[in-house]
Amino acid sequence: MLEEAALTLALLHFGFPLYYYSWAKGMLGKSVRAGRDPGFTPRVAVVIPTYNEAGNIERKLEDIYSQDYPRDRITVYIVDSASSDGTVGKALDWASRHKDIEVRIVEEGERRGKGRALNTALNTIDGGFDFIVVTDADAFWANRDALRNALSYFSDESVGAVSCVKTPGGGGFTGVESGYRDFYNVVRLGESSAYSTPVFHGELSAYRRRLLEDLGGFPTDIGSDDSHTATLIAVKGYRAIVAPDVYCYEPVPRRKYFHWRVRRAQHLIQHFAKSIRLLPRSPKAFRKILAAEIFLHLANPILLLISIALLAYSAYKGSPLSLSLLALGTALLAYKPYRTWIVMQLILLVAMVKNAFRKELVWSKEEKE
Ligand code: GDD
Ligand code: MN
Repeated sequence: MLEEAALTLALLHFGFPLYYYSWAKGMLGKSVRAGRDPGFTPRVAVVIPTYNEAGNIERKLEDIYSQDYPRDRITVYIVDSASSDGTVGKALDWASRHKDIEVRIVEEGERRGKGRALNTALNTIDGGFDFIVVTDADAFWANRDALRNALSYFSDESVGAVSCVKTPGGGGFTGVESGYRDFYNVVRLGESSAYSTPVFHGELSAYRRRLLEDLGGFPTDIGSDDSHTATLIAVKGYRAIVAPDVYCYEPVPRRKYFHWRVRRAQHLIQHFAKSIRLLPRSPKAFRKILAAEIFLHLANPILLLISIALLAYSAYKGSPLSLSLLALGTALLAYKPYRTWIVMQLILLVAMVKNAFRKELVWSKEEKE
């Protein structure tokens, strides 16, 4: 009895993501790609939220500067929340040496988190911008036409938001990270081809400004400002897509890798918990995607935990079948994709527990190199 229950839960736990992954992969082929005009280069406000980014800000500005996009159509807004490491000074210095791109600095008197800082920026950006791109100071765009490609999707009026495909970037502990990306990129792109994806990336998130304003700005009560905003846009009936020709990467922390992943998982869990109430009013094509992702993030890790607990209990009670299933589950850890998957479930479970104590809306950064 116990064995049967445990097996059923384990089959569901592993079977559903496999099914979803193969569905996403199938979608890639059919790719109902948004129609677009590659010559569409509107004026764009590129917003960089910063808190103590002195070590990154120059490289970040160079990265934007070297994009293949008309420089006189880009205005960079750095919204800084009282950094104490000279971030603003470095940015001003860089701007004084690069007069052919406009850089504006918006300063907040105190640090209140990324979401609030983005809203401060949104209220400051002048009326001449219909498109807003948000990008983290410690993340980079991997192709010179990233910005151009991202914005070109907006030539299709049905597209409300665009994000990038993540490639695991240099340094640090990338073993688990790269395995995690293979699975996730296929899922993100498949969802985007089918309709929209509920997971966006802080490395590059582009929005139609009018929609941001309709939403009243970015959420400040949860951590995933990017993913939740994209989801709200998709619920409104616009497409929120990860584009197959926009690549970005973020160096992985050298130390405290799990701490970093757990914090980000906490934000995703907050986002999906808040998204449950959106299901009834989602367009049908999106409801399936959102429901699947809610299941994958909130329920699926728990199924695994219960299944293991049941097996352990019945093994303890003397079931040879349970004991061998546990042994098999452990032996499979030698197989990398499986190990990556299990680590991810662990990160999600730890994140759920941590969320009960601390939402991490204002966080301290892990050291990178
Ligand atoms: N202005 C301002 N104020 N900027 C901030 C603040 C703040 O209080 N806190 C963080 N930032 C800036 C950082 O300087 C960086 O440019 C960006 O926000 C992201 O912060 P990181 O510390 O690099 O966070 P992360 O990389 O772990 O998390 C990112 O990805 C998550 C998952 O997509 C963030 O974008 C999260 O919001 C997101 O949930
Ligand atoms: Mn970061």
